[in-house]
Amino acid sequence: MTELSPRPLPFEPYKTKVVERIPNPSREDRERALERAHYNLFNLRSEEVRIDLLTDSGTGAMSDQQWAALMLGDESYAGSRNFAHFEETVRSLTGFPYIVPAHQGRAAENLLFSSVCRPGSIVPNNMHFDTTQAHVLHQGATPVNLAVPEAYDPVSDFPFKGNVDLAALERLLREAGPGKIPLIMVTVTNNTGGGQPVSLENFQGVARVAADYHVPVYLDMCRWAENAYLVREREPGLGGRTIPDIGRAFFDLAAGATMSAKKDGLVNIGGFVATRDEPLAERLKEALILYEGFPTYGGLARRDLEAISVGLTEATQLDYLEHRIAQVRYLAALLEEAGVPFFHPVGGHGIYLDVRRFLPHLGDDDLAGQALVVELYREGGVRSVEVGALMFGTEGAAASRSLELVRLAIPRRVYSASHLAYVADVVGRVYARRTEIRGLRMTYRPERMPHFTARFAPK
Ligand code: F0G
Repeated sequence: MTELSPRPLPFEPYKTKVVERIPNPSREDRERALERAHYNLFNLRSEEVRIDLLTDSGTGAMSDQQWAALMLGDESYAGSRNFAHFEETVRSLTGFPYIVPAHQGRAAENLLFSSVCRPGSIVPNNMHFDTTQAHVLHQGATPVNLAVPEAYDPVSDFPFKGNVDLAALERLLREAGPGKIPLIMVTVTNNTGGGQPVSLENFQGVARVAADYHVPVYLDMCRWAENAYLVREREPGLGGRTIPDIGRAFFDLAAGATMSAKKDGLVNIGGFVATRDEPLAERLKEALILYEGFPTYGGLARRDLEAISVGLTEATQLDYLEHRIAQVRYLAALLEEAGVPFFHPVGGHGIYLDVRRFLPHLGDDDLAGQALVVELYREGGVRSVEVGALMFGTEGAAASRSLELVRLAIPRRVYSASHLAYVADVVGRVYARRTEIRGLRMTYRPERMPHFTARFAPK
């Protein structure tokens, strides 16, 4: 891919109406904060963070149109007009007839997996995100990752590293036998594997294999607009199509989807499950009432649903997406100049530093990804997240996961090019003194999803 050079400054297709002051903790503040946080950056206070690239989820800036939409909130418990608008927006975008709101993506996952999985079920995915994996496991089912081999190669420039290995999927379906696999999930973009897109051709292949075995296919559509943008750019024959049109080509092949609107819904909270299966929709609604709330609000304020309706539309605008992806590439180009190793090609929502090449002197027991996360914060107050053995609970097991990454996730419509240049500087400085970096040991390990609440100490 030639996308990294030259590096034009990304042109912001919006101007500033409200500002938020950026904290500037001193080096001593940061040292103290690290100790207090037990070297887990989830434990930091936001005022201890200079540039927050922990996640692109729910951290974006809403537009004036979205803030205005909040004022249209009709906070009726049942039958709110905001739900009607939300339902109509999601239906017309996706074509799925049954829309069940939820307060965020993992709530949608809970509804879906608790309704379709049984102990012993198997759920294939290109790559499970950690909450998705945890919800499958929570049902006594087994998550299986079936991304193409290129997905595990951080240096290959293969354009669709989110793709599913169709032969492996076919084999799994054949060997599992009838009734074992309640659904196949495909995550667009593939967050766990570098924010990489899934091609339409590959998804058509998934749908074909699934149809042969009468298994429904669901999309994890958190970053579906970014996926559509990368497909439009990279897949032959799709360059002239609009983002909604490409998105629809995916949705038309699927039985349903889960969504965290905190990503490509451009809101701070919200999500949904969508399906074509009416009996399933009824079961989802029953579970919804138990866990989240009535089906016309799903654990949200009704005004939140109105903001999602606007955000889902804004997320498909080409100038917005061009800027977003240009920001990721701008940061990538600066890091490349500094010789910093990261996952190629750069995907939709952030840079994924390649920990094995960044810190080759650290071993599997050194929690190298977390050690790098700590150093980036120590150096310049930049908060990132480990996406590797720690996130997936396989730390210490040699080669248990072949990708060890640290993600610099870029929030939507929040930071400017100069902020990204600052981040590149910080990463470059850490890279220059990389041989001094020591590993960490875990002093407390929770049973599930360790990266959120584990505690560490320097080795
Ligand atoms: N699926 C994917 C692919 C995700 O990236 C996430 C969240 C979820 C499901 C769950 O959604 O957070 O609304 O409950 N990803 C965030 C991240 C947390 O930082 O990548 P949620």
